[in-house]
Amino acid sequence: MIDFSKYPAEPFRIKSVEPVAMISREERLKVAKEAGYNTFLINSKDVYIDLLTDSGTNAMSDRQWGGMMIGDEAYAGSRNFHHLQEVVQKHFGFKYIVPTHQGRGAENLLSQIAIKPGQFVPGNMYFTTTRYHQERNGGIFVDIIRDEAHDATLDIPFKVISTWRSSRELSTKKVLKMWLMYALPLR
Ligand SMILES: Cc1ncc(COP(=O)(O)O)c(C=O)c1O
Repeated sequence: MIDFSKYPAEPFRIKSVEPVAMISREERLKVAKEAGYNTFLINSKDVYIDLLTDSGTNAMSDRQWGGMMIGDEAYAGSRNFHHLQEVVQKHFGFKYIVPTHQGRGAENLLSQIAIKPGQFVPGNMYFTTTRYHQERNGGIFVDIIRDEAHDATLDIPFKVISTWRSSRELSTKKVLKMWLMYALPLR
C-alpha cells in the first residue's frame, strides 16, 4: 500500500510540455548495441528518460525565465556574476568562485589543478566522466566503494565508502601519494 502522505502534491503548475517518443524494448536494445553501450553516442530521439545529466535539461521556473530577461549579459563584470559570487561566498565561504556550466566541466578544471601525474585519486563511485578526467590528467583512479553499495535494496545508513583500513584497494603507500579525494554523498 503506497503511503501518499510521503508524496505531497507538487506546489507548482507546469506551463509547457515537450513531446517525447518511447521506442520498443527491442529497438532500445538495438540502439544501445549500435552505440557500443556508450550513452554519449545515442541520439536523444531514441531516449525516453534521459539520465545522462540533470544540469539545465528540465523546466525552468517563472523567476528563472524572468531573470533571463532582466539579466546582465555583459561578457565580463556583469552584475549577475557579482550576485552569484556574493551568494556563493555567503553560503560556502569560498574567497574565489569559478562558475562552470556543468558538473563535468568543473570536474575537468579541478582535475587539471589538483592532480599531479602518478597520484592516486580515491573516490566513491563516479560519474561517467569523473574517472576519465582524473586519468586524463595523470591520476590513478581507485574505487573505494564498499561491496554493500552494489546492493541498491540494502537500507544501511552509510554504504558508499570503505574506511582506510578496510579498503582492499588503498594501501598506505597509495594514500601517501594521494592529493585529491572524491567523496560524493550518494546513498
Ligand atoms: C563530481 C561530479 N561530476 C559530474 C557530475 C555530473 O554533473 P553534470 O551532469 O552537470 O556534468 C556531478 C553531479 O553532481 C558531480 O558531482
